Amino acid sequence: MMHGGLVIKDIEKAQDFSTTTVALITSSSDDRINVMSAEWTIRSSIEPFMITIFIGYERGSYEMIRNSGEFGLSYCSERQGELAHIAGNYSIRDTDKLSAYKFSTFPSGRIRAPLIENAICAFECKVESEFRVGDHAAFNGIVLEGYYSDGEKPLVFHGGKFHHIGDVIKH
Ligand SMILES: Cc1cc2nc3c(=O)[nH]c(=O)nc-3n(C[C@H](O)[C@H](O)[C@H](O)COP(=O)(O)O)c2cc1C
Repeated sequence: MMHGGLVIKDIEKAQDFSTTTVALITSSSDDRINVMSAEWTIRSSIEPFMITIFIGYERGSYEMIRNSGEFGLSYCSERQGELAHIAGNYSIRDTDKLSAYKFSTFPSGRIRAPLIENAICAFECKVESEFRVGDHAAFNGIVLEGYYSDGEKPLVFHGGKFHHIGDVIKH
């Protein structure tokens, strides 16, 4: 049976067909620095400029963001698929990802956590509030600073794999 041109009913599989970007979320707490991948990030207010990120309670990053009240977001360029894979598949609970792998960082201006070099854009955020969404914590961040690189293209996450962005659609 067809449903408006869509054929199959399956909530989890349907999610796989949506498309997101990947941000490398950096945090710093108790003299440790961490990086994790997050596809669930979105601008959530125009004025003040805010971004909300959704972080699983079991992530090492959850405690670090909770303790420090800050986080960095570095949106991956298409050249950073390997970093997104590492940051999203290893935990600070077992691995010091920033030291063990090739993450190049630069110091933030307004938060303690550094940002990731060669991202397409990056933001420094201060946690304004936190709330629970099912099994994830939503951190609402006030954006203190933003950076971008004109020469980079974004990494696109679709169907569980990283992709390059396509051509502009003319209309
Ligand atoms: C592409 C990708 C996107 C991800 N997005 C999220 C996300 O939005 N929120 C989340 O809690 N975990 C997300 N994860 C899983 C975390 O990055 C992963 O559990 C990571 O190991 C947590 O690291 P930490 O324990 O050092 O904080 C994602 C993983 C990948 C590979």
